Amino acid sequence: MTILMEAEGLTKHFPGRRGLIDMARRAPRPVVQALTEINLDIRAGETLGIVGESGCGKSTLARCLVGLHAPDRGTVRFAGADLAGMTGTERLGFHRQVQMIFQDPYGSLNPLMSVGDTLAEALAVHNIVPKAAIAARVGELLAMVRLPPDAAGRRPHEFSGGQRQRIGIARALAVEPKIIVADEPVSALDVSVQAQIVNLLLELRARLGLTLVFITHDLRLVRHMTQRVAVMYLGRVVELGPTADLFATPRHPYTRALLRAVPQLTPGLRGRDAAVRGELPSPLAPPPGCAFHPRCGIAEAGCSASVPALEVRSGAWPVACLLAGS
Ligand SMILES: Nc1ncnc2c1ncn2[C@@H]1O[C@H](COP(=O)(O)OP(=O)(O)O)[C@@H](O)[C@H]1O
Ligand code: SF4
Ligand SMILES: [Mg+2]
Repeated sequence: MTILMEAEGLTKHFPGRRGLIDMARRAPRPVVQALTEINLDIRAGETLGIVGESGCGKSTLARCLVGLHAPDRGTVRFAGADLAGMTGTERLGFHRQVQMIFQDPYGSLNPLMSVGDTLAEALAVHNIVPKAAIAARVGELLAMVRLPPDAAGRRPHEFSGGQRQRIGIARALAVEPKIIVADEPVSALDVSVQAQIVNLLLELRARLGLTLVFITHDLRLVRHMTQRVAVMYLGRVVELGPTADLFATPRHPYTRALLRAVPQLTPGLRGRDAAVRGELPSPLAPPPGCAFHPRCGIAEAGCSASVPALEVRSGAWPVACLLAGS
């Protein structure tokens, strides 16, 4: 098992918005704690799921992994090399090998450029093929994602959402990456189209030997697509394990609550921790200690006192819960 990419201690905070009253009071600017101390390894050839509710930091993590955000603290290493220490040429090589697919392909495609030009541009930036071979390679890429050859001459707005996501996938594949980080790639699509795009991604992954990081809030997709899954809560990974095992015997109370909300996935799931209570707290003010404690059905006094580390306790995979070992 080769580790292709590693995140260590990744932390990313954003300045929050201040209302007029706060400004008048000269209150300090609030801080959005989007990511805190994320440790994650991505193994060559695997599909790793990252799952969690909206706002828990999934996209911020994706952006840090592909180098679109510089973390405040912590490192991203690709094939052993620290992203922050790379020279310009090394960074270009990194961006060729690590590609991202976005939730909204329309927002990430240039509306003024034809699909053919968009793909040709990706090929040219990274010198993938000689100039004379670009048109043929564009045709191959369109065929790979099952778009008709005449798609090359059209602009993004002429396509449906599902087709636009195929264009996004073709653009990512153009540079022959090793890893694709797909950030909710089907969340904006009709359910009927989701399966087609998901199956296309799985097929391309197998055919091209890609490593895939698949980010979603949809547990059914995680179950269907991934070998391992990281569960995020308020900017931290709270459980990280093999998908089938984790779905069968989730250990973190938050994971248990998430899974229990989709009973057809986990018919046998029982436990003493009741369903999750209350609202998701704001990442502007995560609760102290274990950030899940105000909502946790089995919380004890110590839970608000210290942040549980993500570590192997009594089970077979890491979990960030003080009571998971008991
Ligand atoms: N560029 C940004 N500036 C300020 N806040 C941000 C920015 N990006 C994300 N956030 C905030 O960080 C938190 C995590 O966001 P995000 O990573 O998009 O979560 P997810 O993808 O899981 O929905 C949210 O509270 C979000 O509002
Ligand atoms: S550490 Fe405590 S509050 Fe947090 S999930 Fe575990 S039991 Fe619940
Ligand atoms: Mg997101």
